[in-house]
Amino acid sequence: MSPTLAMNHPALDLILQRTSVNHFDQSFAVDDTTLTELVRYACQAPSAYNFQNWRFIAVRSAAEKARLCEMAYGQRKVQESSATFIVCGRLRPHLGVRDVMKSFQDTGHVDAETVEAMVDGAMQAYADDAQMQRDEAIRSASMAAMTLMIAAQAMGLVSGPMIGFDPDQVRAGFGLDDNELPALLVTIGRLAPGNWPRKPRRPTADVLTIV
Ligand SMILES: Cc1cc2nc3c(=O)[nH]c(=O)nc-3n(C[C@H](O)[C@H](O)[C@H](O)COP(=O)(O)O)c2cc1C
Repeated sequence: MSPTLAMNHPALDLILQRTSVNHFDQSFAVDDTTLTELVRYACQAPSAYNFQNWRFIAVRSAAEKARLCEMAYGQRKVQESSATFIVCGRLRPHLGVRDVMKSFQDTGHVDAETVEAMVDGAMQAYADDAQMQRDEAIRSASMAAMTLMIAAQAMGLVSGPMIGFDPDQVRAGFGLDDNELPALLVTIGRLAPGNWPRKPRRPTADVLTIV
């Protein structure tokens, strides 16, 4: 181990403590401030070109959670959690790239020529490539979702990522626009008894190549 690295930082414990939770304390209500803070942290995630091509719908009311629960094939945790986020990735991210690059120029990080080069680069990479747009939407939403889950853990909450839902129903039922993709759901709340312990992981040596 490199001796100067902080291998006992509390953030590392949070990573090890996080599990996907099935059973939530149904008496715990999450307030607007907490939901807002979770999303503020989620938005600190990185994204290509700093696109920030994500959006979050916090489904909190009992009626809306019941609706979403049905769209999630009846997975009870949607209803029993304090809230479930629909984490959306946005397609056509290149359409916002000039604004992003201008903000970099305004803060003095890039010059006008670099702005144009970055805009051209994004146009070439995304404009005519639906697969690349979809990949980027899923990547950005996933980065944000993971950041949100770690932030939740740090606040004393627990979470659960979910792909078990009907995307077309979620899109229609929660008014997503054509440009938005429901990438995953993230339930959050307080831990209740009866959850799984931490699940094992494959040995690092099986998944790591150092060249
Ligand atoms: C993209 C993704 C989708 C998932 N979808 C579901 C789901 O629909 N329902 C569910 O119960 N768990 C779901 N999970 C949770 C996984 O089963 C869980 O992360 C995995 O078993 C490892 O457990 P851990 O997160 O507690 O370490 C999902 C996880 C990920 C990352």
